[in-house]
Amino acid sequence: MNIEEAAGIFTDPKAYADNERFHGGAAVLRREAPVCRVEHPDFNPFYAITKHADVMEIARNHRIWLNAPRPALGPKPKDDTRDDIPVRTLVQMDAPDHPVYRRISASWFTPSGVRRLNDRITELAKRFVDRMAERDGECDFFLDVASHYPLYVITSLLGLPEEAFPRMLTLTQELFGSDDADMARDTSGQSAMDALIDFFQYFQGVTEERRARPTDDLGSVIANARINDEPLDMLEAVGYYVLLATAGHDTTSSAISGGLHALLENPDQWARLSADPSLVPTAVDEMIRWVSPVKQFMRTANADTEVRGVPIAAGESVLLSYPAANRDEDAFDDAHVFDIGRRPNQHLGFGFGAHYCLGTHLARLEAQALYTELVPRLRSIEAAGPVEYTETLFVGGPKRLPIRYTMA
Ligand code: HEM
Repeated sequence: MNIEEAAGIFTDPKAYADNERFHGGAAVLRREAPVCRVEHPDFNPFYAITKHADVMEIARNHRIWLNAPRPALGPKPKDDTRDDIPVRTLVQMDAPDHPVYRRISASWFTPSGVRRLNDRITELAKRFVDRMAERDGECDFFLDVASHYPLYVITSLLGLPEEAFPRMLTLTQELFGSDDADMARDTSGQSAMDALIDFFQYFQGVTEERRARPTDDLGSVIANARINDEPLDMLEAVGYYVLLATAGHDTTSSAISGGLHALLENPDQWARLSADPSLVPTAVDEMIRWVSPVKQFMRTANADTEVRGVPIAAGESVLLSYPAANRDEDAFDDAHVFDIGRRPNQHLGFGFGAHYCLGTHLARLEAQALYTELVPRLRSIEAAGPVEYTETLFVGGPKRLPIRYTMA
């Protein structure tokens, strides 16, 4: 693959659905063009960053590299209409607003903060594994387990009743969905707007209710947050709910299902985990490195600068490729080997710096709870059909993962 072909992996949703093509291209770029200018008629130009050290350095330096106005790669019309959606979330913010808004929910996402959800998460993990056991030894692990479980967790985190689940599912699919036709998403923009309006109305009610009668959940914390001694306005509050609902869903589903796919492809690692379930925590981090569910975020330079000697002018953007950085041969021993005991594992699957994933501990807790429940109960497991990955430019993993298994 030459550099030009390799650079095509960032603008073609099909490339992320083809692990061999993506990682083949990423390896070429890391070696031959680690700061690679990408020009494509459908996208505003950008530089693709594929080395672990460079992604870290840019993400660390948030005084030069801003999230606004282009936090993630989308086709030109999406770049141009970004301001039409009147909700600004943490990922579109920079200092001084960003740390202030992040602080509103931060304590809920610390290790001790997420521990208060421990019992509920364990109960949900058991419920989904029980469902697998009730089936006749076959299911689609993505459709039946991984795609729903994290959304129940988010719904619990926000303190919403389980009846809210279908609405949350539609929202995350519409607003954060992939570019994959199988995900049945209307890409006209209208349906995203409809979902947003519906969501707005629903959460306006939740916010008013929580302001009148505060409860012990994150939904209430957001509803009653104050900045400069003023309550959040309704759009800001809804923006917060949208972000948490969407950021915590497809990401975790992809990590959980992509992780199982990696175990199926590496039977020695499955056998190792099955023999020693105490490896679940390191296995989960290796799954996140391996799958890198978030494919990219972007930063835009606010001053002339350079990366690895390549000059980048103020106003130009870089794409931080987490899946490419997470297979960097200079950052990981045997970078292309799936090793469930990997230590240390300084992957960038959760990003780095000021915008480092807020939900890291929650995501780990969820994935660990599911595998802790699942691994000891599975006697055998194998693929029961072709595995398919989501065509996406942003977040993704398997969209079909048929399995056959026996359970205790
Ligand atoms: C395996 C699952 C997950 C992965 C791989 C993941 C990955 C990421 C990445 C790469 C970023 C951007 C970091 C950066 O720019 O440096 C991010 C941001 C974020 N994530 Fe996650 N995430 C996951 C789960 C979650 C969960 C469960 C939640 C919470 C409900 C969550 C909430 C957020 C939020 C709020 C941000 C924005 C933070 C900010 O801009 O300050 N994520 N995540």
